[in-house]
Amino acid sequence: MSNNKKALITGVTGQDGAYLSQLLLSKGYEVYGTARRGASEKFSRLEYLGIKNKINIIDFDLLEISNINKVVDKIRPTEIYNLAAQSFVPTSFDLPILTSDINAMGTLRLLEAILHIDKNIKFYQASTSEMFGKVKKIPQDEETLLHPRSPYGVSKAFAHYATINYRESYDIFACSGILFNHESPLRGHEFVTKKIAKTLSKIKLGSDEILSIGNVDAKRDWGYAGDYVNAMWLMLNHNIADDYIVSMGINNSVKDFINQCLKILNIDYEWQGEGVNAKVLNKHNNKVIVKVDPKFFRPAEVDSLIGDPSKIKKILKWQPEYTFDKLVAEMVNFELDHPNIIF
Ligand code: NAP
Ligand code: GDD
Repeated sequence: MSNNKKALITGVTGQDGAYLSQLLLSKGYEVYGTARRGASEKFSRLEYLGIKNKINIIDFDLLEISNINKVVDKIRPTEIYNLAAQSFVPTSFDLPILTSDINAMGTLRLLEAILHIDKNIKFYQASTSEMFGKVKKIPQDEETLLHPRSPYGVSKAFAHYATINYRESYDIFACSGILFNHESPLRGHEFVTKKIAKTLSKIKLGSDEILSIGNVDAKRDWGYAGDYVNAMWLMLNHNIADDYIVSMGINNSVKDFINQCLKILNIDYEWQGEGVNAKVLNKHNNKVIVKVDPKFFRPAEVDSLIGDPSKIKKILKWQPEYTFDKLVAEMVNFELDHPNIIF
């Protein structure tokens, strides 16, 4: 059943692209998803959800203005969700210019395409709590001053303000969703929650691996990606374009995440040592199963993030279904059931 709405999702191969596609298809949208050509297959998330064949896949790269213009002009979507990004914070320290070109200039290229091709296209920008960086207020809300701590955060701050600026200057229906960390079984393998859930589950299944980890004291406000893509849709389907924080309003440390996984896996454990010497012992066999490795420390860390989701709950009636415990349980159980799937 079609609703005459056509969505263009940039970054459809990523975690959020997969869940958002699934949501929009269930609402009767015609879904176009962009993907960069690569040497290997990258549709595993869409295939896992069983929706790859329901999506029109388009060759697309945020680095190439002529390609963006052609795609927007040809498809003429009613809504664009700009999820594409170089989204891994450590990589942004190694590739700061490429990260900015994709995340900052890429967003501007897309906004220019909307402005010159069809100003009626609604636009969603995937902004991030990483923009708050060295936080100026606890909890962070829509008015909190930004202080990004990584090239990724800086690039996303540019895109956030560009989105607001095109809304204010040209009356484009452009929304910026400031989403705090959101996870799922489909999370990329290098992000900390996935790495922890996967490695500890493998250890439970008999592997000799050790979980090498960075800063275990960092705190994040973790939610479930499926809940968060619903917030994106609510923003574009409200009568006024605006910016919203999307978060749970509760934070946990990386250490808490490890402890919760170990509890679900029923591994009897003990933390020993502090800082770089911290490690976890499996009390059942005295083996070290987690150790800190400074190679995972970042040049500048975001110590603690916690968002205030009051505005989106009040105005858009957004309500998450997952708790932290439910999220961790789902990620761990997925790894136990599918130890060989890598996203
Ligand atoms: P993800 O899994 O890393 O997916 C990123 C997507 O962007 C992939 O499809 C990737 O394609 C695509 N991409 C990268 N460079 C591109 C380029 N030059 N041109 C076109 N596409 C490109 O990210 P995610 O977790 O789904 O997050 C979605 C968006 O939300 C991102 O913008 C991220 O920065 C933002 N965000 C995420 C979170 C979170 O906690 N997940 C929180 C706040 C904001 P390939 O498959 O080809 O690499
Ligand atoms: N990745 C990773 N790997 N992070 C680790 C590790 C490790 O081995 N050990 C500790 N950490 C800490 C990081 O230092 C950081 O403080 C925290 O775990 C979370 O790291 P990530 O899972 O990589 O996420 P992120 O917070 O840096 O970025 C994610 O969330 C942002 C929203 O705040 C990404 O999805 C970004 O794209 C997103 O914008």
